[in-house]
Parts: sequence; structure tokens; C-alpha cells
Amino acid sequence: MKKKSRESDRVLESTLLKRREFISVGALAGTGMLLGASALAESFNVTTVDGRKKRYALVGVGGRSGMYRQAILKDYAAHHEMVGFCDLNLGRLKLAQSKAQKMAGVTVPIYEAKDFDRMIGEQKPDIVIVTTKDATHNQYIIRAMELGCDVITEKPMTTDEVKCRAILETQRTTGRRCRVTFNYRYSPHRTQVKELLMSGVIGDVLSVDFHWLLDTHHGTDYFRRWHSNKANSGGLMVHKATHHFDLVNWWLSAVPVSVMATGKREFYTPKMAQRLGLESHHERCHTCPEKAKCTFRLDLAADPGLKELYLDQESYDGYFRDRCVFRPDIDIEDTMNVQVRYNTGVTMAYSLNAFNAWEGYHISFNGTKGRLEHKEEEKAYLSKDGSLPHAVKADGTYIRIYPMRAPAYEPEIWKGQGSHGGGDNVMLDDLFLPEKPLDKYLRASDQRGGAYSILTGIAANYSFISGKAVEIADLVPAIPLPDYPLMPPHDVPVPMPPDA
Ligand SMILES: NC(=O)c1ccc[n+]([C@@H]2O[C@H](COP(=O)([O-])OP(=O)(O)OC[C@H]3O[C@@H](n4cnc5c(N)ncnc54)[C@H](O)[C@@H]3O)[C@@H](O)[C@H]2O)c1
Repeated sequence: MKKKSRESDRVLESTLLKRREFISVGALAGTGMLLGASALAESFNVTTVDGRKKRYALVGVGGRSGMYRQAILKDYAAHHEMVGFCDLNLGRLKLAQSKAQKMAGVTVPIYEAKDFDRMIGEQKPDIVIVTTKDATHNQYIIRAMELGCDVITEKPMTTDEVKCRAILETQRTTGRRCRVTFNYRYSPHRTQVKELLMSGVIGDVLSVDFHWLLDTHHGTDYFRRWHSNKANSGGLMVHKATHHFDLVNWWLSAVPVSVMATGKREFYTPKMAQRLGLESHHERCHTCPEKAKCTFRLDLAADPGLKELYLDQESYDGYFRDRCVFRPDIDIEDTMNVQVRYNTGVTMAYSLNAFNAWEGYHISFNGTKGRLEHKEEEKAYLSKDGSLPHAVKADGTYIRIYPMRAPAYEPEIWKGQGSHGGGDNVMLDDLFLPEKPLDKYLRASDQRGGAYSILTGIAANYSFISGKAVEIADLVPAIPLPDYPLMPPHDVPVPMPPDA
């Protein structure tokens, strides 16, 4: 234990040192840092040297892949082309092919997962997009880079530290580029929080309180699907909180050093099925004898999109998208509390709850000149009769600045359009537009940001079991710091607040 803490002190010292170098280089170089990360963004969207379109293969043709399919085949088709789809499920592959045909009039070749290498050999993509289930990302990220492709991967980059190390090592040895698509950074109001923190309006941040709530529609959904087993998803600490931990890393321009956490599952259990008046949990909603009584059911047959993507393709792989959320083999938590210490000395208290009455989050940054509070209420609960119980609060989403000993105020919220708080559209422009201005927020992320975003949750998973603090460097040592924007430093004078 003593050895561990000496090691962690060394890691902290070394990361603080790197951080100081990082800050001073940034301060001197100014836009030099911008150019570094901008090069990552640019490398993915310029056309090839010989002027042809960029060639993409996509592996994992489920729900999320539709966004990339449309981007490449339609919205950004002038500069990009889709040259292959790959998946375990032949039915979903045929569906993806027919949707591409209807959308763009092209026949995208399809390959079963076992033929991934053949796809790369025959189609010669420049970039492989990885949208398979989380625990399989590493296989495709690594193989694509070994075969000479760059990679765009969905979050989480992967689900455990062993796979994370292997990805970092392959990236280092092949020199290929790996982009992790953190769409949450691009939602305009979250970018606005970054802008405010960078501006120094609340000084330098010393601590953070962050609480994320998933409701009994969106939150419940994780307990039906492959996500409900840790071996597939890393649990919500990795699958979901990778977004949240990445936001904090990026908002603070900091990386986690040490994590302590508790987690439990107390709502999505067989016992809760009985407390809710059901006789028992069952296998799945589609065949559930008690579905008429259960408001947690999902009717795959009633939703044409879900039906064609999952129900109609079950014969190929036996995957049920509508498993009972109260079944006993679920092994992910629904209630999680985490404490994190960062390389800049900032500390954070974070929680994630997956059965809440509203969906969204509340975060407070405590700075040397004031406090920034930000709340986002993502959607109202709409009941079957169309009423809005617990109706949306008028102040559902806000950013509020509390200067030290001065009146609070709310800047007007930056707004966007489309999915994930408007983040997806802005990110797609960043990924696929051939020309765009430098991004002062450095929102494009590579494998370093991808690694730090998952390691807080991976450490939390270990801490759930041991009850002890887990050092990030004990999981994956010496990950270089990601490119983050310069933030207000911790060692400059702070104005004396006015007398109250
Ligand atoms: N950034 C975001 O906001 C966001 C939103 C949704 C999903 N995602 C991510 O996108 C990814 C896909 O999620 P989804 O909702 O589309 O899931 P999904 O279950 O709808 O689709 C996953 C697809 O991967 C295929 N697959 C599974 N294992 C495979 C393997 N070993 N080889 C090849 N194919 C395999 C499945 O057959 C399926 O077609 C996940 O990593 C998820 O975390 C990100």
C-alpha cells in the first residue's frame, strides 16, 4: 500500500510537471496548441492527395451507425464515400445495404465479421468507422490500424485497461490516427461552459460537483440490451459515464489521477419487479405474460424502426433488444457515487443514477473568483395520455454565474439543433467538412482523450469491489496528456472579493 502511494505521488508529481510544461508551452505557443489538435481534425476530412474521395468502411451497422451512414452517403458525399459494411448479423447488414441503396442509389458491399480483413484488402478504405458494441471496439480499432487504416471510433474507446493498453500500443507502433467521437463536447451549451471556464470568469476551478440523472425511459433502456452485462459495456461507469468523464477532463483541461467509488443495483432487480406488483421478472417483453401490467415494457413490434433493426433480425444471432429489466443476470449498477482527484489538484464528486424522475444533469464548478452552475434537463416525461406529469420546468437548462460576493447572472444559452443537444451535427461538420476554422476549444479527440475518458470509470468499477482508491497510472501508465485548451492557472494573483 505504501509502495502504491509512493508510486501514485510520483505519477502525480510527474503529471503536474507535465501540466506545468503543458501550460507554459501553451502560453508561449498560443495558437501552436490549436494547430496541434486541428491537425487531427484536418487529417480526417481533407480529400486524399490524389484528389479522390475518402473511402470509409463501417463495422457495426446497428442504431448508432445510421448517423455515419447518412453523413457519408448523403450529407458529405461530395468528399467521402462508403465502400463497405461489416457486422456479425447478416440480416442487419442486408438492411444497411438496402437503406444505403434507397438513400444514395449505391450498393455498398457487405461483409460478415469474420471477413473484416478481406473487406479491408478488397475495398482499401482510408478510414474504418467502429460502431460495434463497446467491448469489441478494440478488435477493430487494432486490426484496422495494423492493416494501414485510420480509425474513427464511437465512445467508449474500449471497456477495460488491458484493451486500452493494447490500443495505445498499436497506435504508437503503427502511427495510424485514431479519433474518438465525443459528440457531447460539441453541444453548443457545453462548448459555452468551456468558453466561460477558459475566460476565467470564475477564476481557476478548484472542485466540481457533478450529478447525472437517467430517467425510466432512457435509463431503463440500458438494462434491456447488451449494455446490461459488464463484459459487453463496462457498465454505465464506462458505457455512459465516458461521456461525462470526458466532458470534465476537457472542461478542466485535466486528467484523472485517483478514483474512489461505490456502486450498487437496487432498482432493476427481480425484487423490484415484485414490489411493483408483478409476479416475477421474465425473459423479454415480446413474450412477457405480464406485459399489460408493466410500464417498463418495450414493444419492438409497435415501432417500425426497432422492428426492422432488431426483431426482424433475431434469427441471425439470437439477440433480444427487449430483455426484462428486472432479470437476475443483469450485472451493472444503477446507482453510482464517485470521487476523483485530477492532475491539476482539482477534486470532483460525481453521481450517476439510472432510474430518475427526470433526465439530465447538474454540475457546479467552484472557482477562485466564483461559481458556475449548469443544469440541463434533456426531456420531459410524456405520459400515454399526452399530459406532462412533473411538467418541464421553465428553467430546465441554464448556465448561472455566481461571482464571489456579487449578484448571480445567467448568460443566454448557446443553442443547437438535432440529436445529443445539437452536438452530433456540429461534430459531423468537424469530422467531414473539408474546410473549417480552427477550433479554439480543441474538441477533436484522439486515443489519449479516449483513454482518459474511460479510465475513471474502469477505476470506479475496481473501487466498487475493493472499496479502495484506484490510481489511474496503475491501470495504464504514462499516457501522454491530450491536447486541451489553456485554462486559468492556479498560481496567479486573485482579486480580493469586495466586502459583502
Ligand atoms: N456517442 C453517442 O452518443 C452514442 C449513441 C449511441 C451509441 N453509441 C455507441 O455506438 C456503438 C453502437 O451502439 P448501438 O446503439 O448502435 O448498438 P446496436 O446494438 O444497435 O448495434 C451494434 C451493432 O454491432 C454489431 N456487433 C456486435 N458485436 C460485433 C462484432 N464482434 N463484430 C461485428 N459487429 C458486431 C451488432 O450486430 C449490431 O449490429 C456503441 O459503442 C455505443 O456505445 C454512441
